[in-house]
Amino acid sequence: AREPLVLGIETSCDETGIGIVRGTTLLANVISSSMDEHARYGGVVPEVAARAHLEALVPALKQALAESGVTLDELDAIAVTSGPGLSGALMVGVGAAKALAVSLDKPLYAVNHLVGHVGADVLREDDSEIELPTIALLVSGGHTSLLLVRDLVSDVELLGETIDDAAGEAFDKVARLLGLPYPGGPEIDRVAIGGDPKAIRFPRGLSQQKDMAEHRYDFSFSGLKTAVARWVEQTRDSGAEVPMADVAASFRESVADILLTKAVAACIDHGIPRLLLGGGVVANARVRELAAERCAAAGIELRIPPLKLCTDNGAMIAALGAQLIMAGHEPSTLDFGADSTLPA
Ligand code: KG4
Ligand code: ZN
Repeated sequence: AREPLVLGIETSCDETGIGIVRGTTLLANVISSSMDEHARYGGVVPEVAARAHLEALVPALKQALAESGVTLDELDAIAVTSGPGLSGALMVGVGAAKALAVSLDKPLYAVNHLVGHVGADVLREDDSEIELPTIALLVSGGHTSLLLVRDLVSDVELLGETIDDAAGEAFDKVARLLGLPYPGGPEIDRVAIGGDPKAIRFPRGLSQQKDMAEHRYDFSFSGLKTAVARWVEQTRDSGAEVPMADVAASFRESVADILLTKAVAACIDHGIPRLLLGGGVVANARVRELAAERCAAAGIELRIPPLKLCTDNGAMIAALGAQLIMAGHEPSTLDFGADSTLPA
């Protein structure tokens, strides 16, 4: 059968993403971010994000069509993120997708954002196929989740997630308290260069032995953020200069350690020697380095899609829609709302 031509719409957080794929081939991936508008608040403001989607969505759609040379009539289907995410932001994408589906008389697929991150892997240009089952670690400004993926479209299990801040949020908050601009992740990476990751031993949330029994695959970063804040405050109070590079490197070390300890434990517990990474925090230099180290030591195959597919985008949603079609799934009925059930 011909591979389905699918339009994907992603508006769960601060990126308006419009993607077009044919099966597993990427044809367009247009991203319009409202990050700059959130910068002065130090984090994503839901109302601002929703308004930005409303403004950006149609121009992004037109650009994606122009770049791919695809016309709306040619599409086989439309896929849209229905959750999880910010509800006002999600509603903009879902509303637009329904309007397109009804007016064009095309099937519509509601897609889970987290599974979409996993689905992004099929768009890699090297054509190596993702081997299943796999453990997936998704870390961004909006989520920190560990998934067990047995089948992309029918069997995805949420093993654990953050009980407070997302990892990216922790980077953003710590950057802010160090006086660095938003988004904080790239700033921390920059400042950490030359710093000693062992200079300060910051806490590893939910990673102590007793936590590993109860919250084995869950994450917590708010205690870490508070510990950094207290350390910086005490240093300033004592009149000493804050060693920025050491603080950044030590904080980054803690986050990377927590993430990889949990992810590797999930791989070992389930006898699955494969780990897939996704989300904006995957850009972090130390996270990438430690992932490579720990996976090599444990005999785990590490997969990291190109960064452009790791951060929020519409192409991954289109790709998952195409997977659903190729697996023979029925389209969604048009009465779905913004929701977050797993799998798609
Ligand atoms: O996936 P993403 O683009 O989308 C949303 O969460 O909306 O992720 C953005 C997050 C931000 O919190 C940002 O600080 C973080 O990813 N991030 C990083 C790095 N680059 C971006 N965190 C750590 N190190 C980085 N180099
Ligand atoms: Zn995401």
